[in-house]
Amino acid sequence: MGLSEKTISYIKENCGRSLTGMTVLITGANSGIGFKTAETMVYMGAAVIMACRNREKAENAREQLLADYPGADIRIMMLDLADLDSIDAFAEQMPDVDVFVNNAGLYHRPGQKTRDGFEMVMGTNYLGVYYLCEKVLPKLRECGHDVVLVNTISVVHKIASVDLDRFYEERGDYFRSKLCLARYTEHLVKQCEGTNVHVYMNHPGLSVTPIASHVLGGMYVLAKFVPINSAEKSSLSVAWLLSNPVPDGSVVGPNGLLCGWGYPGINRKSPRASRDIDELVKFSRAEIEKKHPSGGNI
Ligand SMILES: NC(=O)c1ccc[n+]([C@@H]2O[C@H](COP(=O)([O-])OP(=O)(O)OC[C@H]3O[C@@H](n4cnc5c(N)ncnc54)[C@H](OP(=O)(O)O)[C@@H]3O)[C@@H](O)[C@H]2O)c1
Repeated sequence: MGLSEKTISYIKENCGRSLTGMTVLITGANSGIGFKTAETMVYMGAAVIMACRNREKAENAREQLLADYPGADIRIMMLDLADLDSIDAFAEQMPDVDVFVNNAGLYHRPGQKTRDGFEMVMGTNYLGVYYLCEKVLPKLRECGHDVVLVNTISVVHKIASVDLDRFYEERGDYFRSKLCLARYTEHLVKQCEGTNVHVYMNHPGLSVTPIASHVLGGMYVLAKFVPINSAEKSSLSVAWLLSNPVPDGSVVGPNGLLCGWGYPGINRKSPRASRDIDELVKFSRAEIEKKHPSGGNI
């Protein structure tokens, strides 16, 4: 199907950088915003690595992209954020990349647990991403060139709260997982200050994907009547970020009403993202070590 004409002219006007010669890795690239991010990156000339948990879905997505961009360099790596062994194997094999986009995530999964026994949403959206970042960061730091690391949060982190004693409570798990990720990303921003790794947060606003339909529930019908972003429009943040002078640590996302829709820009940070960061990092490290002592020091 390819990118729409509107998107192509947006990229031409606002994202002028050629990504030829660069490699962009995107987690959860087989669906929704991750798939469209992969497509914009391929359109801009990058080689893309789709890091996905389901080989068949990933192969189908790759075929779809190759149909529109024959000859594009698109590889697949297996990665399941709900399985710490899978993260170990992925980190071990990860090749050199210029851009690493943590996009994968899921919404409310009552009663489900990750392979290591964490509540599914906190275990995937936060602890999985936390552990993945800790495992790949040494490689990114040692690669000898600039690297952009983007963590995908959500505007809902602005209304969430974290109580480490009730960390795995299912109520509000998605919101809480994104606030934890925002706090941890602030930690990474500080840790990487002055190094070759440039860390950002990206939020896609409200976008027509399976996740938005879960978040909005019955209200999803409204998506037909209000100008909710397409996955394609929400995916443009990474293209915009790579082409414009955006200070390290910025939050990038749709700049329209309530940061819910529109084209990308720099958004104001929520003060909630800067609170109790050290406690969270200490807690997260201990949680991983309890369940996964073979993971080594992180
Ligand atoms: N859509 C919105 O309005 C919205 C708003 C704010 C934030 N976000 C964030 O944007 C990101 C992309 O979401 P989306 O809306 O594009 O949803 P989506 O279409 O459901 O895509 C989610 C992707 O994450 C992958 N994934 C889920 N669990 C995984 C795991 N354990 N290991 C590896 N990959 C896993 C999924 O793989 P499978 O296909 O195999 O399930 C899929 O590729 C998420 O982080 C989401 O929280 C979305």
